[in-house]
Amino acid sequence: NSEHIVTLAEWLQKSKHTTILTGAGMSTESNIPDFRSKEGWWNNIDPRTVATTEALDNHYDLFHEFYSMRINLLENCLPHRGHHILVEWEQQGLIQAICTQNVDGFHSAAGGQHVYELHGSINKFHCADCSKIPSKEQFLNKDRCSQCGGKLRPNVVLFGEMLPEESWSTSLSHIRKSDLVVVIGTSLEVYPASQLPQMTEGKTVYINTETNGKNQDFSLIIQDKAGAVLAKVNEIIEKKEK
Ligand code: NAD
Ligand code: APR
Ligand code: ZN
Repeated sequence: NSEHIVTLAEWLQKSKHTTILTGAGMSTESNIPDFRSKEGWWNNIDPRTVATTEALDNHYDLFHEFYSMRINLLENCLPHRGHHILVEWEQQGLIQAICTQNVDGFHSAAGGQHVYELHGSINKFHCADCSKIPSKEQFLNKDRCSQCGGKLRPNVVLFGEMLPEESWSTSLSHIRKSDLVVVIGTSLEVYPASQLPQMTEGKTVYINTETNGKNQDFSLIIQDKAGAVLAKVNEIIEKKEK
């Protein structure tokens, strides 16, 4: 891996336009479970019973329990060093955009300015039936909408829903003009975010503790933890800058 680390540092410094794409594996080192690895949520919960529009419509209790549990878990978690390194690189002009499938808001919490949330945010809420914006407390209390009595939900993209148009189109345009796309901590199982890496003409790098059939076409594969890889690459970049 060490020569791959050196290569990635070189590519980052040489590239004109770099886009980062992250998934749940970017936040496991902040003690937030991912979905499909062995400690992931979907090992003991069927996603279709909690993370779909059908779940919101037909078994709100399960839906509400799943998201309020994740919100409470998030209260005790923080962005890790890897999130902060990406923000440092953004400030140094080494990367131009951070597109994420994560809903934890950690890239922005770490100070990211060009962060695009493809699957929305678990920290913001709306009424399923009208445009009223409730508070987190109202959602956690399982209140109904104060304006129309409708169900309250987090601003998370559920399976069966379209992605937020703005995040999707901005991410796509960054990817299209990138000469380097670095994909961190995602199994690339979920459409359409999974298609983004194929939409660049540039070099592609896959950083993941596991590899699967979806990543074989990448220019470079670094099989290690996001935090470790980002720290090692950053060390090389900092040395060169001196
Ligand atoms: P999907 O339902 O096809 O599932 C893809 C993978 O995720 C499968 O491995 C499946 O086992 C797993 N999965 C299924 N439901 C899940 C859930 N609720 N949570 C976690 N994993 C789940 O996913 P998809 O619907 O094909 O793609 C994700 C979303 O993107 C969809 O809701 C789709 O409507 C939306 N979409 C958006 C655009 C766009 O914005 N341009 C285009 C196409 C699809
Ligand atoms: N460093 C690098 N990779 C990691 C780490 C880590 N510390 N921890 C886990 N991973 C890897 C796992 O091996 C896995 O391949 O990150 C990947 C996480 O993949 P998923 O659990 O499938 O998460 P993600 O790809 O973000 O899921 C996409 O599915 O459930 C929906 O909407 C939800 O946004 C989510 C989408
Ligand atoms: Zn309402």
